[in-house]
Amino acid sequence: MSQEQLNKDAFTRGKPMPRQGEAGGYDQNWYPIALSRDVREGEVFGTEFLNGRVIVIRDADGKAQVLSAYCRHLGADLSDADVVGGKVVCPFHKWGYDASGQCVETMTGDKPPEQARLFKFPTEESWGVVWAFNGLEPFYEAPHPDMMEEDADFEVEFNHMTNVDHFIPYSNSSDIQHLRAVHKIELEVDPQNVERWPGRMRYTQEMTMPGMPPMTQTVNIFGTNCLVFEGNMMGRHLYNMSAGKPLPGNRTLHTMMAATAKSTGAPGEDEMVKAIIQQGLAFGRQLFEEDDMVMRSIRFRQDTLTETDRMLMTFLRYVREFPRTDIACDMIS
Ligand code: FES
Ligand SMILES: [Fe+2]
Repeated sequence: MSQEQLNKDAFTRGKPMPRQGEAGGYDQNWYPIALSRDVREGEVFGTEFLNGRVIVIRDADGKAQVLSAYCRHLGADLSDADVVGGKVVCPFHKWGYDASGQCVETMTGDKPPEQARLFKFPTEESWGVVWAFNGLEPFYEAPHPDMMEEDADFEVEFNHMTNVDHFIPYSNSSDIQHLRAVHKIELEVDPQNVERWPGRMRYTQEMTMPGMPPMTQTVNIFGTNCLVFEGNMMGRHLYNMSAGKPLPGNRTLHTMMAATAKSTGAPGEDEMVKAIIQQGLAFGRQLFEEDDMVMRSIRFRQDTLTETDRMLMTFLRYVREFPRTDIACDMIS
């Protein structure tokens, strides 16, 4: 090999990770679209998602539905629509859509064209969040802690924006070097001991935070955009979930949730449960804030990795192999 080639190889950076929205669309994940409390009966909640916009409504049974936001007539944004008689009525020429996304009436009495149908995402609502699956057929469960929602006290909020694709912040828990360097957390984890299912991974790690005794933590990864940590605080089980929603321009809005078993009402327990939930949320916020400076300017590439990066390699391989789709992209933009 010529010297020039050797030099060139030495100065070639590693493979860029394909950006979301390019190369096949977006990962086929369950994405947090809205907080349940923001989606009210008889109203339309419009919000950015993927490369465009969606609306969230409640059907006659109160079930949340996520639909593409642009009217199939001339493209008015249905975020500004009224709900009249259970129908989403376009603010422009007043075409009416039912909760399945089908246009069922026009103001003039013209027959609604059959193709006047909005894209309807598979939708679920749990843990205070309305989730939409990017695709036609979900192949894993919407993210959740390993406990029943009715047995839990929890709090949820959308509270952090990063200007990078969602998988980058969610590669953080596998990035052992950064945990030490940025968050001062020591971790022991065996990349051989990762359980895998379609769209999901789980492993256990020994974590030591400054001034705290070591704790065993279970890490659940749902899709490429969600982490659920299961650990202990003040002798109770604490679940921390964060999940990212991709927005136009390769930004990501993160929702965070902290949950623990409901208080039994024993003296002082209500206050303790509240305090644990607040500490869980504060811990999540702190991790995002400590990463902020790097996340603002990173040009992410899987470049020269070392032994300590084995867990990160496992995660990045999983991301590269994750199915994508652009099935909804044209309808929501
Ligand atoms: S653009 Fe919606 S009815 Fe014409
Ligand atoms: Fe981090």
